[in-house]
Amino acid sequence: MFAPLLLRILVGLLASTSAHSRFAVKNALPTVPSGWAEVQNARLPPTHGLNMRFGLAPQGSHLLESSLRNTSDPLHPNYGDHLSKAQVHALSKPATDTIRMVEAWLEAHNANAMRWSSSRDSVSAVILVSFAERMLSTRFGVFQHIKSGKRVVRTLRYSLPETLLPHIAFVHPTTAFFDPMRQHGIGGFAPGVDGAPHSAVPHLKKRGLNQSDYISCVNVTDPPCVRQLYNLGDYKPDVTLNGSENHIGVAGYLNVWARADSLKLYLDDYIPESRGSNYTFDVVNITGPFIPASINAEGNLDTQLAIQVAYPIPMTYFPTNSIPPHIPDQNQDGIGSGGVNEPYLDFIDYVLGLDKPPTVITISYADDEQTVPQDYANAVCNGFAKLGARGISVLVSSGDSGLGVANLPETMERHSSPSSPRPALTLLQSEKLRDISLRFLFLNPGPDSPIISTGHDASVPAYLDGPANAHETALQSSMYNRQGRAYPDITCAGSGAFFNFFENEWDIGGGTSAAAPTAAGIVALLNDWRLRHGKPVMGFLNPFLYGAGVTGMVDIVEGLVSGCQQPGFNATRGWDPTSGLGFFDFGKLQSLVL
Ligand SMILES: *[C@@H]1O[C@H](CO)[C@@H](O)[C@H](O)[C@H]1NC(C)=O
Ligand SMILES: *[C@@H]1O[C@H](CO)[C@@H](O)[C@H](O)[C@H]1NC(C)=O
Ligand SMILES: *[C@@H]1O[C@H](CO)[C@@H](O)[C@H](O)[C@H]1NC(C)=O
Ligand SMILES: *[C@@H]1O[C@H](CO)[C@@H](O)[C@H](O)[C@H]1NC(C)=O
Ligand SMILES: *[C@@H]1O[C@H](CO)[C@@H](O)[C@H](O)[C@H]1NC(C)=O
Ligand SMILES: *[C@@H]1O[C@H](CO)[C@@H](O)[C@H](O)[C@H]1NC(C)=O
Ligand SMILES: *[C@@H]1O[C@H](CO)[C@@H](O)[C@H](O)[C@H]1NC(C)=O
Repeated sequence: MFAPLLLRILVGLLASTSAHSRFAVKNALPTVPSGWAEVQNARLPPTHGLNMRFGLAPQGSHLLESSLRNTSDPLHPNYGDHLSKAQVHALSKPATDTIRMVEAWLEAHNANAMRWSSSRDSVSAVILVSFAERMLSTRFGVFQHIKSGKRVVRTLRYSLPETLLPHIAFVHPTTAFFDPMRQHGIGGFAPGVDGAPHSAVPHLKKRGLNQSDYISCVNVTDPPCVRQLYNLGDYKPDVTLNGSENHIGVAGYLNVWARADSLKLYLDDYIPESRGSNYTFDVVNITGPFIPASINAEGNLDTQLAIQVAYPIPMTYFPTNSIPPHIPDQNQDGIGSGGVNEPYLDFIDYVLGLDKPPTVITISYADDEQTVPQDYANAVCNGFAKLGARGISVLVSSGDSGLGVANLPETMERHSSPSSPRPALTLLQSEKLRDISLRFLFLNPGPDSPIISTGHDASVPAYLDGPANAHETALQSSMYNRQGRAYPDITCAGSGAFFNFFENEWDIGGGTSAAAPTAAGIVALLNDWRLRHGKPVMGFLNPFLYGAGVTGMVDIVEGLVSGCQQPGFNATRGWDPTSGLGFFDFGKLQSLVL
């Protein structure tokens, strides 16, 4: 391969100095994002290889959106006609010219290890930093995450040759500053009770707790409580008949693993009929490195809570670590070792490549909005739309830390940082739920991204202009974007969740990390119910939830989510930013989904 490589370098030099000389800015940040600092005088050897991904401009996105809209709308004749892998690929595939131009551009710049996504809507490659700088008319620098000390190679601004601008959706990593060490709540790295780091929480011996605590379901939400709270009765899925195509997928990011032995202990304890069944989750390693970690709290919590009511529906854990291989050398001073790439697109692309993907997916990880470039966020959002078009219900935790000032540079607007509350809430029936209702969302798209649902679009202005928000001050209203996507969609129990941490150590987990898998398990039961009646799985849930589904939700009408040193948003009848539409009443939903 030596000869072609040399040739390509020559072509690259020629190409970069002639054909593509006019550039247009693609993305620019006003300053280094908060929490990060540029490492002065960091030497980046020209031989430093960047693991890059280029997103190609889609051509069929309006058709994809229209298909998603139709197939997930219970009132549309095509409801439930979920698209096949080939159909979604056909709708995702960029124009042939786009693929050809991008491929030629990468080859001309000595791209190595080129790897196309299954629908050719993005391509990954390793590119020497000196070449990447020429391709993007930029200078890469070294930036340090202040809290964790991790270093990454990024830039504050990049451009594209004008001829390529309409063909490229995003280039990553460029201006993305994802927080590589989120420490709050179980939604980040170090889970624990009420957002405390795991290490600060003594592991509980489950047997030592007072049984009445479980029965009351106030302090603890274990499987019997979940059955009670969501009106599940003794519903058991039937995986032997049509239900056999039902399947729960659990995302595992950041090198977090789930233990099969822990799952077994959990099932043995709570689901007697599982004993002797050898039930466990499959593991499908998506992107490495695959180094099982010693801390398994998040992965154990997610797998155990997803199956707590859904046993014996098959479940797969998908480690998606997306940490590029890195061999530090003396010049690099650790640069790149912290270069965690975003796992979302790797995960979505993998799932879209499956002939029989999971029917429900739960994701208990999040990034702060301000750290994700808009174009990249749009690509991820379109990916979620594709999953929806395949008939997959995607449940994502919205974060654990309530409303917060995004601490943006002065040049940008202050706004509430999307994350989640720790509300004191009361049910419609005025049953006290104290702190157990946390929020999560299905989709968190930017302004150009696909539909949520007409119901959602109507609910948000109705709330903002309604009585619950009547006394909003000018300061409060300046802190969020009225045109943006509101969340959460629904609420689910998020605290006091028992799970097996390791051997005889049981722990209480919490946060939206607990809410998302719990809800995914319940959605799997709704799928089972539909499959048993010869109907396809639910797919993208929002059009149903904001339509007929509303009457199958338990509305939360009291309480509030606060933040930014402001009182925040009040709960009220109907959708509100504190609890969304409320929580599932499975018994009622059963009749509504048929
Ligand atoms: C979606 O449904 C509308 C009619 O309600 C139809 O005009 C449109 O072609 C459909 N879209 C797709 C992709 O089938
Ligand atoms: C358990 O708690 C209940 C109420 O909090 C109390 O009445 C009961 O005595 C406790 N039982 C034990 C064994 O501690
Ligand atoms: C359960 O919650 C009550 C009320 O918050 C508290 O007083 C009690 O200590 C809790 N019990 C346990 C075992 O945490
Ligand atoms: C579980 O595994 C054991 C040991 O491999 C085997 O003997 C047993 O038949 C399995 N049980 C079921 C229900 O498959
Ligand atoms: C996934 O990676 C882990 C860690 O390297 C390994 O133990 C496991 O066998 C892999 N699983 C599969 C299905 O390849
Ligand atoms: C929320 O409700 C409280 C209590 O009724 C009220 O004082 C407050 O002004 C309301 N907030 C907004 C933004 O209207
Ligand atoms: C299975 O699905 C088919 C249609 O796909 C339906 O005709 C049949 O009644 C279903 N069987 C059961 C047992 O649910």
